[in-house]
Amino acid sequence: MKIGFIGTGDITEAIVTGLISTDYPVREIILSERNHTKSARLAAADSRVRVTSDNQQIVDESDLVFLAVRPQIAEDVIRPLSFREGQAVASLIATFTFETLLDWIGTPVKLTRSIPLPAVANRRGVTAIYPADDQLEAIYDALGTVVVAKSLDEFDAYAATSALMGLYFGVMETANDWLCAQGTSPQYAQSYLTKIFLELSRTADNAPETSFAHLRKEHSTPGGLNQQMFEVFATSGGTEALTQALDTVAKRVRDAR
Ligand SMILES: NC(=O)c1ccc[n+]([C@@H]2O[C@H](COP(=O)([O-])OP(=O)(O)OC[C@H]3O[C@@H](n4cnc5c(N)ncnc54)[C@H](OP(=O)(O)O)[C@@H]3O)[C@@H](O)[C@H]2O)c1
Repeated sequence: MKIGFIGTGDITEAIVTGLISTDYPVREIILSERNHTKSARLAAADSRVRVTSDNQQIVDESDLVFLAVRPQIAEDVIRPLSFREGQAVASLIATFTFETLLDWIGTPVKLTRSIPLPAVANRRGVTAIYPADDQLEAIYDALGTVVVAKSLDEFDAYAATSALMGLYFGVMETANDWLCAQGTSPQYAQSYLTKIFLELSRTADNAPETSFAHLRKEHSTPGGLNQQMFEVFATSGGTEALTQALDTVAKRVRDAR
C-alpha cells in the first residue's frame, strides 16, 4: 500500500516514525516537503519514504491520503487538490466536519476522521477513529491501540478527552511548583512526580477490568492522606472544574460540526 501525507508536521512525523518501525506492509510513504527538516529526517530514516513539494502528486500516487495540515490553512491546501472517487482519505484535522471536508474535497471519497496522539511514534498511541475502517484500524493497531467510535457524538467526546494532555502537564506543573516551594530541587521534584504518575498509569493499564473509582478507593486508606487529598480537591471544586472543562471543550468540538 502507498500512504501519502499532506502536511509533514509533528503528528505526521509521529505516525511515520511509528509506522516504519513496524512490520506493517507499507510499500511507499509519500510526504509533503513541508516541513523541510521533518520530511528530510524521515526520508533519511527509511528508503520507503519519498518527499515531494507537489501535494497533488501525493494524492495521485497514494492509496490512502492523510490530511495533516493546521486548520487555519486546511481549506486553501485541500480545495485545489483533485481526489479520486472512492479514494481513502483520513483527516486528522480536529475542527472540521465531514460535510465541510467533503465539500472542500469535491469528490465522494471514503473519508474517515481520527485523533492520533504523539505516542504513536513509539507504538504506544491510543487512536480514536470514526467511522470504522479496516485499513485505518490496521494502521493504528500497529501504532498502539485503536478505539472505533460508534457515533459522531462518541468520536467528539474522545476528541474532547484527548485535549486533557495540556491539563495533565498543568496538574504536574502545579504539584511540581508546590513541591519546589517546599525546598525540593526542581530536578528531584519533576522526577519524583513523573515516577508516581507513571506507576499509577501502569497499575491502571495492568488492571483494565478495575474501574478508576475502585482504584481510587484502593489507593485511599480510610482516614488517610490520599483520601483527604481527593476529598479536599473535590469539595474545593476540582472535579466540577474538570467536568466543566470537558463540557466546554466538547461543546466547541460539537459546535464545529
Ligand atoms: N500534534 C498532535 O498531537 C495532533 C494530534 C491529532 C491531530 N492533529 C491535527 O493534525 C494537524 C497537524 O497537526 P501538527 O501538530 O502536525 O501541526 P504542525 O506541526 O504545524 O504541522 C503542519 C505541517 O503542515 C505543513 N504545511 C504548511 N503548509 C503546507 C502546504 N501548503 N502543503 C503541505 N504542507 C504544509 C507545515 O509546514 P511548515 O512547518 O513548513 O510550515 C507543518 O509542518 C492539525 O490539524 C492538528 O489539529 C494533531
